[in-house]
Amino acid sequence: MKKVTVSAPGKLHITGEHAVVYGKPSLIVATSLRLYVTLSNQGEVSLAALRKKDAYIDAIANAFEKKYAKVLTPPCFITIDSAIPVGSGMGSSAALAVALIGALSVWHNEPWNVQAIHDSAYVAEKTKHKNSSGSDPAVSAHGGILWYRKELEFLKTLWLLSFKIPRTFSPFVLINTGRTESTGDLVQMVAEQKTRDEARFAELLSRIENVTKEITSALHDEREEAFCDGLRTNEQLLETMGVVSPSAQLLIRDIEKIGGVAKISGAGGKNGGSGVVFASHPEPARIKKLAKQHGYPSFETQLGGAGVQREQIIV
Ligand code: PMV
Repeated sequence: MKKVTVSAPGKLHITGEHAVVYGKPSLIVATSLRLYVTLSNQGEVSLAALRKKDAYIDAIANAFEKKYAKVLTPPCFITIDSAIPVGSGMGSSAALAVALIGALSVWHNEPWNVQAIHDSAYVAEKTKHKNSSGSDPAVSAHGGILWYRKELEFLKTLWLLSFKIPRTFSPFVLINTGRTESTGDLVQMVAEQKTRDEARFAELLSRIENVTKEITSALHDEREEAFCDGLRTNEQLLETMGVVSPSAQLLIRDIEKIGGVAKISGAGGKNGGSGVVFASHPEPARIKKLAKQHGYPSFETQLGGAGVQREQIIV
């Protein structure tokens, strides 16, 4: 039996979401929640059949075929297992593209090349929303904490930071507020704001860039108060951008009232919830209690996990 399993992590934007679409830096971190793709020559769901049913799987397979100059031939069966919440700002689509392209490259005996996996996952993600910054596939492929910037369509700079989230910092709790819009809808909505008032938008972007630098320095120097101040400012700027829904704002204000800090992470959301809210407090149980009162599930995850990984290869 031939069998290949490759996994890829979900992510959180610590800061810089949306601004990263316009060439500003972002700070993103891989989480311990992962997605697993298994390809096998035996199974129930063939990759060829799934490509016909699911446009995104087809886009990922096309991106692989183009980048690696291969044509996928049966028999190849696929299983996908994921612990990453879908459509919540935790990078589940990017993790699917990264893990599937990684698995296909192993299946076709290609050299293991994380940058090539990232490049083709980016091409696939662009079929979901054409303005993608590429930050989600970057961190899902490389892991750790990344300083990421899309300079030009063909030039993306990424720096894998050598430091970790300090152990002395209060634990992080993630609250899933759900969301009704897609990332593409929200990115489009922000683009319309830019068109309405270019000067105001440029000012907003430059304030986000400044706070991204402050947050990164505070992490590096292990200054928790400055880190939390930066997150609060970033949240305010995202609210000004219009990507935080009224219900998510209510939750975030309540967390601030008990001395905590919270921000949306990823594209956010306007009308229902705003995806995953990333919160911190010295007593995490108090955040979990608040989340429950607001009717949202909450959970903890480790930050700074490994990128794309080969889990099992049987040839
Ligand atoms: O919500 P997510 O995981 O799709 O994150 C999107 C992040 C954005 O900055 C809003 C878009 C992008 O392409 O970087």
